[in-house]
Amino acid sequence: MSRFNETAKNWDAHPRRLLQAEKIFNAIEKKVKLNKTMHVLDIGTGTGLLLMHFITKVKKITGIDNSEGMLQILKEKAEKTHVDNIDFLLFDADKDNLSENRYDLAVSSMTFHHIENIENFLKKIRKSLKSGGKICIGDLETEDGSFHSNPDESIKHLGFDKNKFAEKMKKAGFKNISVETVFEVKKPEKKYPIFLAYGEK
Ligand SMILES: C[S@@+](CC[C@H](N)C(=O)[O-])C[C@H]1O[C@@H](n2cnc3c(N)ncnc32)[C@H](O)[C@@H]1O
Repeated sequence: MSRFNETAKNWDAHPRRLLQAEKIFNAIEKKVKLNKTMHVLDIGTGTGLLLMHFITKVKKITGIDNSEGMLQILKEKAEKTHVDNIDFLLFDADKDNLSENRYDLAVSSMTFHHIENIENFLKKIRKSLKSGGKICIGDLETEDGSFHSNPDESIKHLGFDKNKFAEKMKKAGFKNISVETVFEVKKPEKKYPIFLAYGEK
């Protein structure tokens, strides 16, 4: 069973995670003017902590994740709150393909360090965007392995160097790229900077 199927039920009980998603959403809103015609793709949507910020601001959000447990919690939340502009898809970024020319914006919060083949997946995302579509990825900057208290095989990268991440986006074909620190996660023993990577198709 994946770490995320196990932690799904208590995922939202940690205020730090809610704050991370909110900060990443705020950084996305500074980069992209959201509107009611947009179809947004949320990669590694989990329990929807980032996705939920979009529901009143865009037309539709598709959340994709490879953990059934996380998606189940998101489905229950959507049913309880009668949200009807989201859909969900069990999807593995390292194995599955996305529909082409479908989304106006692809977003992600704290998921890319769990994806093995970043370059390949960035290419798939670019193909899935409509012409002029945008990508906004929030994730950890390079860290020493202390961010996760129970590290396991789900962690494929100890964060990312911002310049190297920008290079990967460039190789995948994105334009007008920026990768900037947007806030720091404060844990008792350390601070962990989080970047927002932005690009256009
Ligand atoms: C740290 S959680 C972040 C969840 C959510 N975005 C948030 O901010 O709370 C990472 C999420 O990515 C998902 N994930 C990990 N590897 C994945 C992969 N290869 N393909 C799709 N989703 C993946 C996990 O199941 C988990 O829900």
